[in-house]
Amino acid sequence: MNTDRIVRAFVEYFEELGHRRITGSTLLPPPGGPVLFTTSGMHSLTPYLEGRPHPLGRRLVNVQRCLRTTDLEEVGDSTHLTVFEMLGTWSLGDYEGPLSLDWAYGLLIDGLGVDPGLLHATVFAGEGRIGQDTASLEFWQEQGVPVELTVEDNWWSSGPTGPCGPDSEIFLWTGDTPPESPPTGDDRWVELWNHVMMRYRRLSDGSLVPLPQRNVDTGLGLERLASVLQGRTSVFECDVFAPWRRLVPGLWQLDEPSLRLVCDHLRSAMVVIGDGVGPAGTGRGYVLRRLVRRVLTALWRDDPSRGLGDLPYELFRHTLDQFRQAVDPEDVRRVLVEEERRFRRLLKHGRQVLARPRFRGPLGEEDFHYLHDTLGLPRDLVLSLRQ
Ligand code: SER
Repeated sequence: MNTDRIVRAFVEYFEELGHRRITGSTLLPPPGGPVLFTTSGMHSLTPYLEGRPHPLGRRLVNVQRCLRTTDLEEVGDSTHLTVFEMLGTWSLGDYEGPLSLDWAYGLLIDGLGVDPGLLHATVFAGEGRIGQDTASLEFWQEQGVPVELTVEDNWWSSGPTGPCGPDSEIFLWTGDTPPESPPTGDDRWVELWNHVMMRYRRLSDGSLVPLPQRNVDTGLGLERLASVLQGRTSVFECDVFAPWRRLVPGLWQLDEPSLRLVCDHLRSAMVVIGDGVGPAGTGRGYVLRRLVRRVLTALWRDDPSRGLGDLPYELFRHTLDQFRQAVDPEDVRRVLVEEERRFRRLLKHGRQVLARPRFRGPLGEEDFHYLHDTLGLPRDLVLSLRQ
């Protein structure tokens, strides 16, 4: 089942259950939010989780692109991407958690053909004033699905403040042996689908207050689901990466970890640019800049003549189409190539500056400030040039 068919199956299933599809899924959250980029489908829904009536009603479904830089160091493993799509559903004070879990279980088993014997659930064990999530626990026990109880791993929040709540996560076994051991601590269990019982709001003093309504917020990573349904061992082998895996190795010879990093970050950079962000020294633009610089650092390790202008048009087209972005691929390419030029100039300048006698010995805080504020050389760049 390719990703298009998975998306269709998911959306249609929930539409038949009375959900309305939200249109629009930019990476840029509404102004005033706690995050630079949308990291989960619920971000744009925060006011509605907090009680404002949503124009489309109380049952929603969406395909939301997300960017997570907290997982940057994990990119290259089998399950993490910086930009990915999240299939999501919401009950805005409508149905409760067990019904949501029941529908999810039904879709996985009957709609997508997942073997129920390979599933494991986790459930919030309870802590302090918030009790165990017995409704989810009982649901899973009735289905005969094994459950692990945890505290921190089964509490979800979108940021230090704002909506949050206990969650129940559905894991799928990907090992070669029959399932062993519980999901936490064994990465052969892949987390597929998270159901957050979004019932609280955390205030800036750390306290929790109940939200005016009991919501359910669920999220399912599309590329991760596609890779397991397609029998692949990593997200980089699912169908959305097929053109990348076909075209990039012919262009640049890279070891597998570098190939994954380069494909992931370039794909993310294209999508970020596609949503209207340009490289900059702060905020969103700086996230983009870091992604591009990490790519170039990996490419130039073996051959400094490699350049982003060589990237086939097909990769831009394929990526922007997948994320439904109506921008001209040539405009996206131009931003990448210009950023590459800037980085080359900066590196040249940095090498000249760091060759000065003053900077040859150990560097103190004052040196880093001077290099950054006066000469435009960020600390991470200085450190990498001196390695
Ligand atoms: N907000 C939850 C998550 O991102 C469920 O959608 O996992």
